[in-house]
Amino acid sequence: MITRNPGLSNLKAGYLFPEIGRRRREFAAAHPEAKIISLGIGNTTEPLTPHIDGGLVEGARRLGTLAGYSGYGDEQGLTALRERIAAVFYATCTVAADEVFVSDGAKCDIGRLQLLFGRDAKVAVQDPSYPVYVDGSVLVGAAGAWQGTGYAGISYLPCVAANDYFPDLAALPANGLFYFCSPNNPTGAVATRAQLTALVEAARRLGTVIIFDAAYAEYIKDPALPKSIFEIHGARSCAIEVNSFSKPIGFTGVRLGWTVVPKELTYASGETVWADWNRICTTVFNGASNVAQYGGLAALEPAGIAEMRGLIDFYLGNAALIREALKTLGISCIGGANAPYVWAQFPGRTSWDVFTEILEKCHVVTTPGSGFGPAGESFVRFSSFGHRADVVEACRRLVEKLR
Ligand code: MLT
Repeated sequence: MITRNPGLSNLKAGYLFPEIGRRRREFAAAHPEAKIISLGIGNTTEPLTPHIDGGLVEGARRLGTLAGYSGYGDEQGLTALRERIAAVFYATCTVAADEVFVSDGAKCDIGRLQLLFGRDAKVAVQDPSYPVYVDGSVLVGAAGAWQGTGYAGISYLPCVAANDYFPDLAALPANGLFYFCSPNNPTGAVATRAQLTALVEAARRLGTVIIFDAAYAEYIKDPALPKSIFEIHGARSCAIEVNSFSKPIGFTGVRLGWTVVPKELTYASGETVWADWNRICTTVFNGASNVAQYGGLAALEPAGIAEMRGLIDFYLGNAALIREALKTLGISCIGGANAPYVWAQFPGRTSWDVFTEILEKCHVVTTPGSGFGPAGESFVRFSSFGHRADVVEACRRLVEKLR
């Protein structure tokens, strides 16, 4: 019989969020009276805003007409959307429209990027980090053997309070891939211009490619903080950026994102990564939904941009309430100011223990920090994606029950 793909048998446990869902369902079954509030997975909750929703509706309607119908489109996305992404999100840096590849989301693109670099790529991640970087590397066989707290083939670069949540770049491996997320999931830390400049300099010196995950970039309010790695001089020859419409406009279910691959980025052989990415996208991807892309176009018109800012301010308002509740409890936390996640520390406790206590006492779901890597132990992550009344109620319960 066929043997199991070792990339799959090498994965540890289940993917983090389904495991949290399982524990939540188990608790709900045992306590049917509990009104559980989720501040766990970063899943958007607010309805699509009118102008953006109008773009989707219009996109769907046009498919019902002879003149407006379109079947397969370009795998790289609608030219108008690629141009608008380049103009709106990369106004202060150099990104050409044909370097923007529209997709069905950042998570899916991260999976395809792992296919691009393959099993021989040396991989480094921030610790803690979004689980897809590690689990995706395991799937393609790039992670090596499990060694108790991590994979032998992956370099885990701790990002903790002692180093201001920015990794020690001396530990960055040469000629590999480094997944870097800012604003960070899960810590909510945002890298400064000086930190990103140091990162780009190190990557160029070492021949390492930065996979810059900017899925939360629009949550940055402080104008001094870079939203894109391409705001940093030299990044075009060492970085790829993945981004998403999920968190800024609530397209978590609609599915739309993009990846920027600059043409200056080359392999040791001198061939461009851009050409291979184009090949991958045209081979195992058929382009993002045309309806979703019309929604994306509407989001990047002035009315859509204003709605996007309003939605982000709403979720940041939730984050401020969560921070305030934790402050009242004397729990030390970071994030939530230019990011939708609040990262709270419970010294001397395990993350799953704190997760269980908060679920049992407050009926609030969080995300255990250890699920993001060894350095996440003793932390839990609070997501600010929730209805306002639910977040207010969750904060009230936290303050009352954890005091
Ligand atoms: C998270 O909660 O970390 C993310 O929302 C999950 C995702 O975006 O896939």
